[in-house]
Amino acid sequence: MFTKVIKIDNCKIDDRLLAEAAQILRAGGLVAFPTETVYGLGANGLDEEAARKIYAAKGRPSDNPLILHISSTEEIVPLVQAVPEAAGKLMKAFWPGPLTMIFPKSEIVPYGTTGGLDTVAVRMPSDPAASRLIALTGLPIAAPSANRSGRPSPTTAEHVFQDMDGRIEMILDSGPVGIGVESTIVDVTGGVPVLLRPGAVTMEMLRETVGRVDIDPAITGPMAADVKPKAPGMKYRHYAPKAELVLVEARKNEAGGRTVRMDQGRYAAELAAPESAAEPVSEAVICRINQLVQEKLSQGYRVGIICTDETKNRYPEGIVRSLGTRGRQETIAHSLFAVLREFDDLETDYIYSESFARDHLGQAIMNRLTKAAGYHVIYASEEEEQHGRR
Ligand code: TXA
Ligand code: MG
Repeated sequence: MFTKVIKIDNCKIDDRLLAEAAQILRAGGLVAFPTETVYGLGANGLDEEAARKIYAAKGRPSDNPLILHISSTEEIVPLVQAVPEAAGKLMKAFWPGPLTMIFPKSEIVPYGTTGGLDTVAVRMPSDPAASRLIALTGLPIAAPSANRSGRPSPTTAEHVFQDMDGRIEMILDSGPVGIGVESTIVDVTGGVPVLLRPGAVTMEMLRETVGRVDIDPAITGPMAADVKPKAPGMKYRHYAPKAELVLVEARKNEAGGRTVRMDQGRYAAELAAPESAAEPVSEAVICRINQLVQEKLSQGYRVGIICTDETKNRYPEGIVRSLGTRGRQETIAHSLFAVLREFDDLETDYIYSESFARDHLGQAIMNRLTKAAGYHVIYASEEEEQHGRR
């Protein structure tokens, strides 16, 4: 299949350019399009056959449900059985925008798009091209992130092209996305809203709008084999770079953090107490990363380092990539997936990453990073203490 790429100017949305894309979607085909979070891979959300094509193009397990994208709030009515009160408040506060909510599904939503669930995820993106495209189709558009399953979500049309060339009919290219991590997901089907995936609508923002919001345990640590995360996608090792990624943290936080031993003998960090976003990286972390890099380089491996503008000059060896300044979580979130992809392209064997505060957008950043690392975390200061004692 030939994949056509069409450039879109977000400041001047031209219906003539979007018309062909809308036609492909109405005919049951696949079109990748920009959203404010990441690029999505769209198909008719009411057509099971079209959903099957999404799973095939992504190489994604078909029990992992899709999000339906709409262009105005009224479009939710035929898709769900009810809009609970908390959902109404959240819609008012954050739609259009990077918030997805889970509702009891209506009859017209096929099980083929919900992975067999009786619930449906709905989101109203704010990206002007996405919104106009959906409106032109007159359909709810099912769209997962437009990456091959297991790859980091695409934040540019080039990323989509790398993964989807020859597999889909069209890619709409409006340049890099604004946010860079996927939407916040909140389950509103129970009494208390539950956060299933952190994103740019932060926990602090949700709580300010509706009061109590619970957190699905899949967000904070690895799942025990017998526990099912509420968002089925959270159980897969997402965003996995080809290299072995290891997060280096200053210390295990005794107050809020706990470590859990995993099957493979790795350690996983649960929620640590939030530090300030701008808190400098400790010397212990920098030393430990340099030491790990040295070790792997001497064994002949290709090694990458994920750091920040504040520390990028502190790593004399290895392939160093800064995510931006620690003072701006938005910049860190925006660069994360692109840097992980770059390390894939560079065929690094090991990547060592600094870690980040977990408040505000940091919750989403650390969720994606720890998942990409398969929850492999090393604590620098404990290592030092041990050296000190010896
Ligand atoms: O920002 C985003 O949400 C992007 C853009 C394209 O809109 N989309 C996206 O879709 O990230 P995807 O398919 O990569 O991730 C959707 C997540 C998966 O973890 C899936 O399991 C969960 O949403 N999900 C979808 N429907 C659900 C449902 N009915 N109940 C629980 N979780 C659901
Ligand atoms: Mg995805």
